[in-house]
Amino acid sequence: VNKIYREGMLEETTQDIPVSFEDLREEAHDAMSEEGRAYVHGGAGSEETFERNKDFSEWRIVPRMLRGVEERDLSVDFLGQTHSYPLMLTPLGVQSLLHDEAELGTAAGAADLDVPLTLSSLSSRTMEDVSEALGDTPKLFQFYWSSNQAIAKSFLDRAERAGYDAIVVTVDAPILGWRERLIERGYYPFLEGEGVANYFSDPEFRSQLDDPPEDDPEVAVEHFLDIFGDSSLTWEDLQFVHDNTDLPVVIKGVLDPRDARLAIQHGADAIGVSTHGGRQVDGSITAFEALPAVAEEVDGEVPITFDSGVRRASDAYKALALGADSVLLGRPYAYGLAVDGANGVRTVLKNFIAEFDLTMGLAGNRNVEDIGRDSVTHETELY
Ligand code: FNR
Repeated sequence: VNKIYREGMLEETTQDIPVSFEDLREEAHDAMSEEGRAYVHGGAGSEETFERNKDFSEWRIVPRMLRGVEERDLSVDFLGQTHSYPLMLTPLGVQSLLHDEAELGTAAGAADLDVPLTLSSLSSRTMEDVSEALGDTPKLFQFYWSSNQAIAKSFLDRAERAGYDAIVVTVDAPILGWRERLIERGYYPFLEGEGVANYFSDPEFRSQLDDPPEDDPEVAVEHFLDIFGDSSLTWEDLQFVHDNTDLPVVIKGVLDPRDARLAIQHGADAIGVSTHGGRQVDGSITAFEALPAVAEEVDGEVPITFDSGVRRASDAYKALALGADSVLLGRPYAYGLAVDGANGVRTVLKNFIAEFDLTMGLAGNRNVEDIGRDSVTHETELY
C-alpha cells in the first residue's frame, strides 16, 4: 500500500483498474456487451436477495490492539492442500461474454497470485486448457449434473485426468432461476457456441451427435439443452459422484443446517454456503445470514466455503469469523476480467489480498486461524 501511495504522489500510479468495487462495476458495465451485462449484473426476480447478499453490516469486527502483527501468515489448509490465502474464485459460466480472453484470462490472473480457481462446467474454454493455464495453482471443477449419465461420468473423468483437485457439485440450480434481465431479452447465454466448450469438446457428447458441433452448432446446442440439468436429483444420487471420482466433493449452495447435515451424511468433503449470487431464489435468506447456523451444525467436521456478496476484505473477514474456512470472490473478478482480461483479474485479486492482509493485521490477527467468533460482534450484542 505504501508503494501505491508513493507512486500516486509521483504520478506514476500503477492503478489502471478502478480500486473501488463500485467504480470497477461501472467501468465493466461500459466495457461489456448488452448480453454480458444482462448475464452478470443482478439476480433473480426483484433482486432482493442479490442486494441483501451484500449487507454484512449486522456483524462488526472488533479489532484488538498491540498484538505484534508485523509478520502475517494468510495461508490456510483446505482439503489436504495449502492455499496461499483463504480466498478462491467462484465458478462463473460463459466468460467469453465478458472478455475475449475468457476463462484463460481468469486462469492467468489467478495463477499469477496463486489463488485457487473453480472452473464452471459451463466454461467457454475447455477444462483441459484452463487446467494447463493454471499450472500448479489449486483448481476445482464445478460439476453441473447432466441428465445424461454417460456425459456426467465423462465430465468427472476428464476433470480428474486434467488435474483438478476437487469436484464442486452445485445443488442450488437444478433449474435456472427467474432472471428478468435475461428473460426480457429472450437471451440464453448458453446458446453461444463458445459458452458450452466443455460440452462441445466432450467425446461422449460428440459421440451422441450425427455431425460434429462445429458443422451443425444448432443441433449441438439443442442436444446440450436436452441433457444440461437434472431436476429429479435427490441426496441419494450423490453416490453417483462418489462412485465416479476419487476427488473430494464440495456441495455448493447449502443454506440450511439440515441440508448441511444431509450433505455430510452423503459424503460431502466440504460445504459451500451460497445463494448463487442471488440468482436462484429471490427473497431467500442470504448466505451470510445462513452461515452461523450452518457452521454450528457442521462444527468443524468438514470445511466450509462461503460466497455471495463478498465485495471487500471486511466481508471475507466476517465470514471467516463466523465459521467459513475459505471465501470465494465472484462478480469482482468478473468485472476485472471485463475491464482488462487477465490483468484486470490480477489487479482485483492483488487489491483484495492486500486489503485482507491489512484488515487482518489491523484487527490484531497474525494468521487466519486467529480469526474466530470473538473477532466479531452482532449489532444486538454491542457493549
Ligand atoms: C454464477 N454462478 C455460478 N455458479 C455455479 O455453480 N456454476 C456456474 O456456472 C455459475 N455461473 C455464474 C455466472 C455468473 C455471471 C454469476 C454472477 C454467477 C454463481 C457463483 O458461483 C457464485 O455463487 C456467485 O457469483 C456469488 O455471488 P457474487 O459474490 O458474485 O455476487
